[in-house]
Amino acid sequence: MKDKTNACRPGNKYILLMVAIIVLLTSATAQKKINPGEVWPDDKGNHIQAHGGGIVKIDKYYYWYGEQRRQGLDTGLRYVSCYRSKDLASWQFMGDALQLSDPEHLGSNWVLERPKVYFNRKTKTYVMYFHLDDARYKLARVGVATSNKPEGPFTYRESFRPLEKESRDIGQFIDDDGTAYLVFESWPTKGFFIARLSDDYLKVEKEVCLINAPLEGGAIVHYKGLYYAIGSALTGWNPNPNKYATAKSLEGPWSEFKDIAPPETNTYSSQSTMMLKVEGTKDTTVIFMADQWKPKTQWDSRYLWMPLQTGDGKLWLPEPKPWSIDIKTGKVQF
Ligand code: GAL
Repeated sequence: MKDKTNACRPGNKYILLMVAIIVLLTSATAQKKINPGEVWPDDKGNHIQAHGGGIVKIDKYYYWYGEQRRQGLDTGLRYVSCYRSKDLASWQFMGDALQLSDPEHLGSNWVLERPKVYFNRKTKTYVMYFHLDDARYKLARVGVATSNKPEGPFTYRESFRPLEKESRDIGQFIDDDGTAYLVFESWPTKGFFIARLSDDYLKVEKEVCLINAPLEGGAIVHYKGLYYAIGSALTGWNPNPNKYATAKSLEGPWSEFKDIAPPETNTYSSQSTMMLKVEGTKDTTVIFMADQWKPKTQWDSRYLWMPLQTGDGKLWLPEPKPWSIDIKTGKVQF
Protein backbone atom coordinates (compact mmCIF):
# COMPACT_ATOMS: atom_id res chain seq x y z
CA MET A 1 0.00 0.00 0.00
CA LYS A 2 1.19 3.44 -0.81
CA ASP A 3 2.34 5.65 2.04
CA LYS A 4 0.08 8.67 1.51
CA THR A 5 2.13 11.00 3.76
CA ASN A 6 5.29 10.20 1.83
CA ALA A 7 3.49 10.48 -1.47
CA CYS A 8 2.53 14.01 -0.52
CA ARG A 9 6.04 15.12 0.39
CA PRO A 10 7.43 15.93 -3.05
CA GLY A 11 4.26 17.96 -3.67
CA ASN A 12 4.79 19.95 -0.46
CA LYS A 13 8.36 20.60 -1.34
CA TYR A 14 7.30 21.75 -4.78
CA ILE A 15 4.74 24.16 -3.35
CA LEU A 16 7.27 25.50 -0.84
CA LEU A 17 9.79 26.01 -3.61
CA MET A 18 7.24 27.81 -5.76
CA VAL A 19 6.26 30.09 -2.85
CA ALA A 20 9.95 30.88 -2.22
CA ILE A 21 10.49 31.70 -5.90
CA ILE A 22 7.40 33.92 -6.00
CA VAL A 23 8.48 35.75 -2.81
CA LEU A 24 11.98 36.25 -4.26
CA LEU A 25 10.65 37.46 -7.60
CA THR A 26 8.19 39.88 -6.01
CA SER A 27 10.81 41.38 -3.71
CA ALA A 28 13.24 41.67 -6.62
CA THR A 29 10.71 43.48 -8.79
CA ALA A 30 9.18 45.62 -6.02
CA GLN A 31 10.78 48.95 -6.78
CA LYS A 32 11.51 51.46 -4.10
CA LYS A 33 9.05 54.35 -4.17
CA ILE A 34 9.88 57.96 -4.92
CA ASN A 35 7.80 60.22 -2.66
CA PRO A 36 7.39 63.69 -4.15
CA GLY A 37 7.65 66.49 -1.60
CA GLU A 38 8.80 64.23 1.26
CA VAL A 39 12.13 64.11 3.06
CA TRP A 40 14.34 61.93 0.81
CA PRO A 41 16.96 60.08 2.87
CA ASP A 42 20.27 59.09 1.27
CA ASP A 43 22.20 55.90 2.17
CA LYS A 44 23.24 57.48 5.47
CA GLY A 45 19.72 58.55 6.39
CA ASN A 46 20.28 62.26 5.70
CA HIS A 47 17.90 64.26 3.52
CA ILE A 48 19.40 64.51 0.02
CA GLN A 49 21.04 67.88 -0.58
CA ALA A 50 21.12 68.29 -4.35
CA HIS A 51 18.98 71.35 -4.95
CA GLY A 52 18.61 72.96 -8.38
CA GLY A 53 20.29 69.81 -9.55
CA GLY A 54 20.92 67.77 -12.62
CA ILE A 55 21.40 64.11 -13.43
CA VAL A 56 23.78 62.46 -15.82
CA LYS A 57 23.96 58.73 -16.55
CA ILE A 58 27.44 57.34 -16.92
CA ASP A 59 27.59 53.60 -17.59
CA LYS A 60 25.58 51.84 -14.88
CA TYR A 61 25.15 54.79 -12.53
CA TYR A 62 23.00 57.88 -12.46
CA TYR A 63 24.88 60.78 -10.85
CA TRP A 64 22.87 63.53 -9.23
CA TYR A 65 24.66 66.82 -8.62
CA GLY A 66 23.13 69.81 -6.90
CA GLU A 67 23.46 72.63 -4.44
CA GLN A 68 24.72 71.30 -1.12
CA ARG A 69 22.78 73.25 1.51
CA ARG A 70 23.09 71.16 4.70
CA GLN A 71 23.30 73.04 8.00
CA GLY A 72 26.66 73.90 9.51
CA LEU A 73 28.56 74.59 6.27
CA ASP A 74 31.32 77.20 6.14
CA THR A 75 29.37 80.30 5.07
CA GLY A 76 32.32 81.60 3.04
CA LEU A 77 32.36 78.51 0.81
CA ARG A 78 29.88 77.07 -1.69
CA TYR A 79 29.42 73.35 -2.19
CA VAL A 80 28.16 71.01 -4.88
CA SER A 81 27.08 67.55 -3.77
CA CYS A 82 27.28 64.29 -5.68
CA TYR A 83 25.04 61.25 -5.25
CA ARG A 84 24.84 58.08 -7.29
CA SER A 85 22.15 55.50 -7.88
CA LYS A 86 21.28 52.56 -10.08
CA ASP A 87 17.52 52.85 -9.66
CA LEU A 88 16.84 56.60 -9.23
CA ALA A 89 15.22 55.93 -5.84
CA SER A 90 18.11 54.91 -3.52
CA TRP A 91 20.97 57.39 -3.52
CA GLN A 92 24.46 56.98 -2.17
CA PHE A 93 26.13 60.18 -1.00
CA MET A 94 29.51 60.45 -2.72
CA GLY A 95 30.56 63.59 -0.87
CA ASP A 96 30.90 67.20 -1.86
CA ALA A 97 32.26 67.15 -5.39
CA LEU A 98 33.12 70.85 -5.31
CA GLN A 99 34.04 73.09 -2.40
CA LEU A 100 34.74 76.58 -3.58
CA SER A 101 35.79 79.81 -1.96
CA ASP A 102 34.71 83.05 -3.63
CA PRO A 103 36.49 82.68 -6.98
CA GLU A 104 35.98 86.16 -8.42
CA HIS A 105 35.96 88.44 -5.35
CA LEU A 106 32.18 88.62 -5.33
CA GLY A 107 31.83 89.46 -1.66
CA SER A 108 29.57 88.10 1.04
CA ASN A 109 26.50 86.10 0.04
CA TRP A 110 28.00 85.28 -3.32
CA VAL A 111 26.00 82.73 -5.28
CA LEU A 112 26.71 79.29 -6.75
CA GLU A 113 23.50 77.71 -8.03
CA ARG A 114 22.09 75.02 -10.30
CA PRO A 115 25.27 72.99 -10.96
CA LYS A 116 25.19 70.59 -13.91
CA VAL A 117 27.85 68.01 -14.86
CA TYR A 118 28.68 66.62 -18.30
CA PHE A 119 31.03 63.72 -18.96
CA ASN A 120 33.26 64.20 -21.97
CA ARG A 121 34.05 60.75 -23.35
CA LYS A 122 36.90 62.00 -25.56
CA THR A 123 38.85 63.73 -22.81
CA LYS A 124 37.47 61.50 -20.01
CA THR A 125 36.77 64.67 -18.08
CA TYR A 126 33.78 65.57 -15.92
CA VAL A 127 32.88 69.17 -16.69
CA MET A 128 30.72 71.11 -14.24
CA TYR A 129 28.83 74.30 -15.08
CA PHE A 130 27.11 76.42 -12.48
CA HIS A 131 25.50 79.82 -12.12
CA LEU A 132 28.03 82.15 -10.51
CA ASP A 133 26.90 85.47 -9.12
CA ASP A 134 27.21 88.17 -6.51
CA ALA A 135 24.54 88.76 -3.89
CA ARG A 136 22.62 91.11 -6.21
CA TYR A 137 22.70 88.72 -9.19
CA LYS A 138 24.53 91.28 -11.34
CA LEU A 139 27.58 89.25 -12.39
CA ALA A 140 25.41 86.78 -14.32
CA ARG A 141 28.12 84.33 -15.40
CA VAL A 142 28.68 80.61 -15.56
CA GLY A 143 31.52 79.03 -13.63
CA VAL A 144 33.32 75.96 -14.96
CA ALA A 145 35.10 73.28 -12.91
CA THR A 146 36.57 69.94 -13.96
CA SER A 147 37.52 66.60 -12.46
CA ASN A 148 38.73 63.22 -13.68
CA LYS A 149 36.36 61.41 -11.32
CA PRO A 150 32.57 61.74 -11.13
CA GLU A 151 32.61 62.36 -7.38
CA GLY A 152 35.34 64.99 -7.69
CA PRO A 153 37.15 66.81 -6.30
CA PHE A 154 36.38 69.33 -9.04
CA THR A 155 38.86 72.13 -9.67
CA TYR A 156 37.61 75.59 -10.56
CA ARG A 157 38.81 76.80 -13.97
CA GLU A 158 37.14 80.09 -14.86
CA SER A 159 33.92 82.04 -15.22
CA PHE A 160 32.45 83.83 -18.21
CA ARG A 161 29.24 85.03 -19.77
CA PRO A 162 28.25 82.39 -22.32
CA LEU A 163 28.11 83.90 -25.82
CA GLU A 164 28.89 87.20 -24.02
CA LYS A 165 25.31 87.19 -22.66
CA GLU A 166 24.07 87.56 -19.13
CA SER A 167 23.39 84.10 -17.75
CA ARG A 168 21.49 83.18 -14.59
CA ASP A 169 19.55 79.89 -14.17
CA ILE A 170 21.21 77.17 -16.20
CA GLY A 171 19.90 73.86 -17.48
CA GLN A 172 21.55 70.88 -19.10
CA PHE A 173 20.45 69.02 -22.18
CA ILE A 174 22.19 66.10 -23.89
CA ASP A 175 20.53 65.10 -27.12
CA ASP A 176 20.09 61.49 -28.26
CA ASP A 177 23.14 61.82 -30.53
CA GLY A 178 25.25 62.82 -27.49
CA THR A 179 25.55 66.51 -28.36
CA ALA A 180 25.76 68.57 -25.18
CA TYR A 181 23.90 71.85 -24.71
CA LEU A 182 23.74 74.47 -22.02
CA VAL A 183 20.41 76.17 -21.49
CA PHE A 184 20.74 79.59 -19.88
CA GLU A 185 18.37 82.28 -18.85
CA SER A 186 19.12 85.79 -20.05
CA TRP A 187 17.25 88.77 -18.62
CA PRO A 188 17.86 91.57 -21.10
CA THR A 189 16.66 89.37 -23.94
CA LYS A 190 13.82 87.87 -21.86
CA GLY A 191 14.24 84.29 -22.73
CA PHE A 192 16.46 81.29 -22.54
CA PHE A 193 19.23 80.36 -24.87
CA ILE A 194 20.01 76.86 -26.02
CA ALA A 195 23.72 76.79 -26.80
CA ARG A 196 26.01 73.98 -27.95
CA LEU A 197 29.12 73.21 -25.98
CA SER A 198 32.55 72.92 -27.64
CA ASP A 199 34.03 69.47 -28.34
CA ASP A 200 35.83 69.45 -24.99
CA TYR A 201 32.73 70.94 -23.25
CA LEU A 202 34.86 73.71 -21.74
CA LYS A 203 33.32 76.50 -23.79
CA VAL A 204 29.83 77.50 -24.83
CA GLU A 205 30.35 77.55 -28.56
CA LYS A 206 27.26 78.18 -30.59
CA GLU A 207 23.85 79.72 -30.13
CA VAL A 208 21.28 77.23 -31.35
CA CYS A 209 18.16 79.09 -30.35
CA LEU A 210 16.79 81.84 -28.18
CA ILE A 211 13.39 80.87 -26.87
CA ASN A 212 11.84 84.28 -26.59
CA ALA A 213 9.75 83.93 -23.44
CA PRO A 214 10.42 85.34 -19.96
CA LEU A 215 11.24 82.01 -18.38
CA GLU A 216 13.94 80.42 -16.23
CA GLY A 217 14.68 76.98 -14.76
CA GLY A 218 14.90 75.81 -18.38
CA ALA A 219 14.61 72.05 -19.00
CA ILE A 220 14.53 70.25 -22.34
CA VAL A 221 13.82 66.71 -23.46
CA HIS A 222 13.62 64.97 -26.82
CA TYR A 223 10.74 62.52 -26.87
CA LYS A 224 9.35 60.64 -29.86
CA GLY A 225 10.62 63.07 -32.46
CA LEU A 226 9.65 66.24 -30.66
CA TYR A 227 11.57 68.60 -28.37
CA TYR A 228 9.76 69.75 -25.24
CA ALA A 229 10.96 72.75 -23.23
CA ILE A 230 9.75 73.63 -19.74
CA GLY A 231 10.38 76.87 -17.91
CA SER A 232 9.15 78.71 -14.87
CA ALA A 233 8.22 82.38 -14.53
CA LEU A 234 10.63 84.78 -12.84
CA THR A 235 9.29 84.77 -9.27
CA GLY A 236 12.48 84.00 -7.32
CA TRP A 237 12.04 81.25 -4.76
CA ASN A 238 8.23 81.43 -5.02
CA PRO A 239 6.57 78.83 -7.20
CA ASN A 240 4.50 79.76 -10.25
CA PRO A 241 2.71 77.90 -13.05
CA ASN A 242 5.53 76.34 -15.11
CA LYS A 243 4.90 76.13 -18.84
CA TYR A 244 5.99 74.09 -21.83
CA ALA A 245 6.46 74.52 -25.56
CA THR A 246 7.40 72.11 -28.33
CA ALA A 247 9.49 72.20 -31.50
CA LYS A 248 10.47 69.72 -34.20
CA SER A 249 14.03 71.00 -34.07
CA LEU A 250 16.03 72.63 -31.29
CA GLU A 251 16.42 75.69 -33.54
CA GLY A 252 12.66 76.13 -33.44
CA PRO A 253 10.19 77.45 -34.28
CA TRP A 254 8.82 76.80 -30.79
CA SER A 255 5.10 76.64 -30.13
CA GLU A 256 3.24 78.89 -27.69
CA PHE A 257 3.86 78.08 -24.00
CA LYS A 258 1.09 76.24 -22.16
CA ASP A 259 0.55 75.20 -18.54
CA ILE A 260 2.05 71.88 -17.45
CA ALA A 261 -0.34 71.58 -14.47
CA PRO A 262 -3.45 73.34 -13.15
CA PRO A 263 -2.11 76.92 -12.78
CA GLU A 264 -3.67 77.42 -9.34
CA THR A 265 -1.36 74.72 -7.91
CA ASN A 266 1.75 76.72 -8.92
CA THR A 267 3.20 73.52 -10.36
CA TYR A 268 2.34 71.82 -7.05
CA SER A 269 4.57 74.39 -5.32
CA SER A 270 7.64 73.52 -7.34
CA GLN A 271 10.06 74.93 -9.92
CA SER A 272 11.56 73.00 -12.82
CA THR A 273 15.22 72.04 -12.89
CA MET A 274 15.42 69.18 -15.42
CA MET A 275 13.60 66.55 -17.44
CA LEU A 276 15.18 63.11 -17.32
CA LYS A 277 14.40 60.53 -19.99
CA VAL A 278 14.57 56.86 -19.02
CA GLU A 279 14.52 54.59 -22.05
CA GLY A 280 13.62 51.09 -20.94
CA THR A 281 12.96 47.90 -22.87
CA LYS A 282 9.19 48.46 -22.70
CA ASP A 283 8.59 52.15 -22.02
CA THR A 284 10.25 55.50 -22.28
CA THR A 285 9.51 57.64 -19.26
CA VAL A 286 10.18 61.35 -18.92
CA ILE A 287 10.64 62.47 -15.32
CA PHE A 288 9.92 66.05 -14.29
CA MET A 289 12.50 67.05 -11.70
CA ALA A 290 11.66 70.15 -9.70
CA ASP A 291 12.57 71.90 -6.48
CA GLN A 292 10.19 72.85 -3.72
CA TRP A 293 12.24 75.66 -2.25
CA LYS A 294 12.17 76.66 1.40
CA PRO A 295 14.19 79.88 1.24
CA LYS A 296 14.45 80.29 5.02
CA THR A 297 15.39 76.65 5.66
CA GLN A 298 17.04 75.71 2.39
CA TRP A 299 18.45 72.44 3.80
CA ASP A 300 14.87 71.26 4.09
CA SER A 301 13.88 72.15 0.50
CA ARG A 302 12.18 69.18 -1.12
CA TYR A 303 12.09 67.57 -4.55
CA LEU A 304 9.09 66.99 -6.73
CA TRP A 305 9.86 64.22 -9.18
CA MET A 306 6.99 62.85 -11.22
CA PRO A 307 6.68 60.96 -14.50
CA LEU A 308 5.16 63.28 -17.09
CA GLN A 309 2.31 62.36 -19.38
CA THR A 310 3.95 63.17 -22.68
CA GLY A 311 3.22 62.56 -26.30
CA ASP A 312 1.72 63.98 -29.49
CA GLY A 313 2.87 67.46 -28.59
CA LYS A 314 1.18 67.41 -25.18
CA LEU A 315 2.82 67.40 -21.79
CA TRP A 316 1.12 67.17 -18.41
CA LEU A 317 2.34 66.87 -14.84
CA PRO A 318 -0.07 64.62 -12.94
CA GLU A 319 -0.93 65.29 -9.32
CA PRO A 320 2.05 64.16 -7.23
CA LYS A 321 1.81 60.82 -5.46
CA PRO A 322 4.32 58.06 -4.59
CA TRP A 323 5.56 56.12 -7.62
CA SER A 324 8.35 53.84 -8.69
CA ILE A 325 10.20 53.07 -11.86
CA ASP A 326 11.81 49.91 -13.18
CA ILE A 327 14.98 51.25 -14.77
CA LYS A 328 15.32 48.19 -17.03
CA THR A 329 11.86 48.27 -18.53
CA GLY A 330 11.23 52.00 -18.05
CA LYS A 331 7.80 51.12 -16.59
CA VAL A 332 6.28 53.28 -13.90
CA GLN A 333 4.03 52.07 -11.09
CA PHE A 334 1.87 54.02 -8.68
C1 GAL B 1 15.05 81.72 -8.77
C2 GAL B 1 16.06 80.77 -9.36
C3 GAL B 1 16.81 80.09 -8.24
C4 GAL B 1 17.43 81.18 -7.37
C5 GAL B 1 16.34 82.11 -6.86
C6 GAL B 1 16.91 83.25 -6.03
O1 GAL B 1 14.42 82.47 -9.74
O2 GAL B 1 15.42 79.82 -10.15
O3 GAL B 1 17.78 79.24 -8.76
O4 GAL B 1 18.33 81.92 -8.15
O5 GAL B 1 15.65 82.67 -7.94
O6 GAL B 1 15.91 84.17 -5.71
